[in-house]
Amino acid sequence: MTLLTVHEVVKRHCSAGEQICAVDHVNLTLQREQMLCIHGPSGSGKTTLLLLIAALLQPDSGEICLEGRPLAQLDERARARLLRRQLGLITQSTRLMPRVSALENATVKLLLDGVPPRRARARALPLLARLGLADRLHHPPEQLSSGERQRVAIARALISGPALLLADEPTAHLDSASSIATVQLLRKLACEQGAGVLLVTHDTSAAALADRSFEMRDGRLRRAEPADGLGGDAADRAVGCAADGVAGGGAGGVADGAAHWQRR
Ligand SMILES: Nc1ncnc2c1ncn2[C@@H]1O[C@H](COP(=O)(O)OP(=O)(O)O)[C@@H](O)[C@H]1O
Ligand SMILES: [Mg+2]
Repeated sequence: MTLLTVHEVVKRHCSAGEQICAVDHVNLTLQREQMLCIHGPSGSGKTTLLLLIAALLQPDSGEICLEGRPLAQLDERARARLLRRQLGLITQSTRLMPRVSALENATVKLLLDGVPPRRARARALPLLARLGLADRLHHPPEQLSSGERQRVAIARALISGPALLLADEPTAHLDSASSIATVQLLRKLACEQGAGVLLVTHDTSAAALADRSFEMRDGRLRRAEPADGLGGDAADRAVGCAADGVAGGGAGGVADGAAHWQRR
């Protein structure tokens, strides 16, 4: 079954008495183990689209379905459960809890879901290690670099084994090499869990790792031209994790993003 279907979705914001059509009749489908990338200028509606898919905003018209189920049918409790269990949301500002260790930050969704702390920590430890944070487990965000904070946020998003990972400019504060490594690892971990990834990024080299790329302008989404011979069907073959079991390799030539962190 298709993981995510966005059908003719429209969302207008009202700002200073003016209506802005932030998302304008957008259509999109995403399968498990696929990564789609959206790029576009600031203000083009990317974050609004992600918030609609996360059920944190309601569309004015159109329909969004997750595994065939319209989000509009969910009541508030079901929406909260969706966010804890089926969705992983990574935002540009990581919003980690201050003065709380990386380990505890990573476990928060499980704890909110009633998982005993010991079991939650046991789930977080290997994930944080894969993200190159084995020696940062007990550091609070204040003592972590922006890249480390971003990787804690990735662990927090993935820990519940979500079906869909939504990442809104997760590498905005990283240098190019770290950005590619982060996206590669994010994709690899998500694919290993059978999740689909919707990535919003400004970074075109990170975008080249996606199966399909879209450009957003003035609220409208259109298929982007493949860059460097990748993207589109070429990328489907090169990095498609449905075919390979796991993603990685493909564009950029770094086999496993984790290696980038472990070398440091
Ligand atoms: N809560 C809001 N209230 C009013 N206008 C908003 C709100 N959120 C976003 N907008 C406007 O909607 C448009 C799309 O914004 P956004 O989705 O944040 O774009 P992007 O993520 O591509 O930068 C922009 O013109 C922005 O100013
Ligand atoms: Mg944005």
